Amino acid sequence: RPTRVTVHPSFTVGDIDRRIFGSFVEHLGRAVDTGIYEPGHPTADAEGWRGDVAALTRELGTTVVRYPGGNFVSNYRWEDGVGPRDERPRRIDLAWRAIETNQVGTDDFIRWARLTGTEPMLAVNLGTRGADAAAELVEYCNVEGGTALSERRRANGADEPHGVTLWCLGNEMDGPWQIGHTTADDYGRRALHAAQAMRRVDPTIELVVCGSSARDMPTFGEWERVVLEHTFDHVDHLSVHAYYQERNGDRASFLASGAAFEAFLTEVITIADAVAARRHSSKRITLSVDEWNVWYLDAVEPDATLPLRERPDLLAERYSMLDAVVVADLLSTLIRHADRVAIACLAQLVNVIAPIVTLPGGGVWKQTTFHPIALLARHARGVTLDARVDSPTLVTDAHGAVTAIQPTVVYNAEAGELVIAVTNRGAAAAPVTVDALGFELGSVIEAVSVIADDRGARTTAAEAADGVPTALDGVTVQGGAVEASLPPESWSLIRVA
Ligand code: AHR
Repeated sequence: RPTRVTVHPSFTVGDIDRRIFGSFVEHLGRAVDTGIYEPGHPTADAEGWRGDVAALTRELGTTVVRYPGGNFVSNYRWEDGVGPRDERPRRIDLAWRAIETNQVGTDDFIRWARLTGTEPMLAVNLGTRGADAAAELVEYCNVEGGTALSERRRANGADEPHGVTLWCLGNEMDGPWQIGHTTADDYGRRALHAAQAMRRVDPTIELVVCGSSARDMPTFGEWERVVLEHTFDHVDHLSVHAYYQERNGDRASFLASGAAFEAFLTEVITIADAVAARRHSSKRITLSVDEWNVWYLDAVEPDATLPLRERPDLLAERYSMLDAVVVADLLSTLIRHADRVAIACLAQLVNVIAPIVTLPGGGVWKQTTFHPIALLARHARGVTLDARVDSPTLVTDAHGAVTAIQPTVVYNAEAGELVIAVTNRGAAAAPVTVDALGFELGSVIEAVSVIADDRGARTTAAEAADGVPTALDGVTVQGGAVEASLPPESWSLIRVA
C-alpha cells in the first residue's frame, strides 16, 4: 500500500542542534598525517594544512570535530603535542601500534578548527591518566593567563584562550581493547573526579560521559545506568557509538540499520531518564553520538606482529552506493531525534572510515557517503516535525519488522522550506504522499536520490563521480500534498517551498 505521511507546523520534535553535523579526526592511520596535515603538499598552507581537505570539510558542512581520539586518546600525553615541533617526542601509540610523531597537537588542531570554521570537541585521557591531567588540559586551553599552564599556552603562541566548550571524559572505557579498560563502577568514579576537577577550572564547559562502545556489548544498559548513577549531576551528555555493516550478504537487514539505530537511541534515552527518575530529577541528559557510521569492522584484523610504522594506512574503508543509502538513513535518524541528540560525530572525517579520501602528495576525492551528509547538513535546518507515518513494514532477519518507508521531515522557517528526507528500505519502487497540513506549499525546489546498486565499493578517485545523487523526477505538489515515487533501496531529499 502507498505510504502516507502527515505533518503539521504545530507538531514538532525539537530544534535541530547544528552540532549533530559533526565529525571526528583521530590520530589514527592517515587521518592527521597526509589527511588534514601534509607540509609540502601543493595545496598546503605555510603551516602544512591541506587546503583541499579543508575546503571539502567546509563543503561537507561539518560543524563540530572531535579530537584526538578515539582509542588513541586513552594513552595520549597531551603535553607531547604542544610547544616547538622539533622538540616533540616520537612515541609508540599503544592503541593502534603506530609511531606517533606529535607534529600535530592541541594548539595546532585548534588552529585547523578555526581554519575550517569548525568547533573543536576535545577528549581527555581517562585510560592511562586521570583527573589531574584532564584538569590541566582544560587550564592550558581555557584559562586566560596568569597560571603555569595558561602561560605555557601563551608562550607557545596562543595568546587568547582556546575557549573549548565540549569535552569527552575518555573514550569507550567499556571495551576490552581500550587501554585502561575498566568496570562501569570504576569508570564512573574516574569520570566523576575528572568532571569535578575540569569544571573547577572552567565551570562553563559541557561534558560527555562514555556510554557503551556498541549496543551488542555484554555490559550495554547496565554500563549506562551505573556510569550515570555516579556522574548524573556533573555531566551534560552521554555518548553513543554505533557502527553498521552488511553481514553475510544480508542486504535487507543492512538497509534496515537506521531502524536498529533508532531503537538503540531510544533505549539509551530511556536508561538516562530512568536514572533521572530514581533521583527525582527533571534534568535531561542529552546524547552525544560521537561515533557513528558504516564500518566493515568484522574485516579488521589487528596484527600485533606488524613492525611499528608511522601513519600506517589503517581503516581505509571504500564506500558503495548501498553504504551511502544507509549512512543517509542513519543521519536522518539522528535528525528525527532532535529533542535528545545534541551532538553527533561521523567517524571519521578523512582517510579513516571517512567520506573524504586523499592521496599522499596528490589529489582528494569524495566517497559516496559524502553527498547525502553534505545535503542534510546544508538543508536540514530548523525544527524536526513529528511526522505521523503509515507505511508498510519489512521483516528482516537481524532487526525483525521495520518501517519500509522512513521519512524525516524538517521545517526550515528561515528559508520557508519543508525538507523531506525519505528512505525506501525495500527492494521495490514505492509511492509516498506527504500531507503537509497547515503549510502553504508552492513547488519543488530540489528532489534528488541516492540509489543503492550492485556495483560494489568505489575504489578509485576516477569512480567517485558515480556517487553524486541523481535527480528524482516526477515529484508533484498539489493542494498541500507532496507525492513521489521512491526508487528501490534509496534515500531521497525533497525540498518544497
Ligand atoms: O573510529 C575508530 C575507532 O572506533 C575509535 O578509535 C574507537 O573509539 C572506536 O572503537
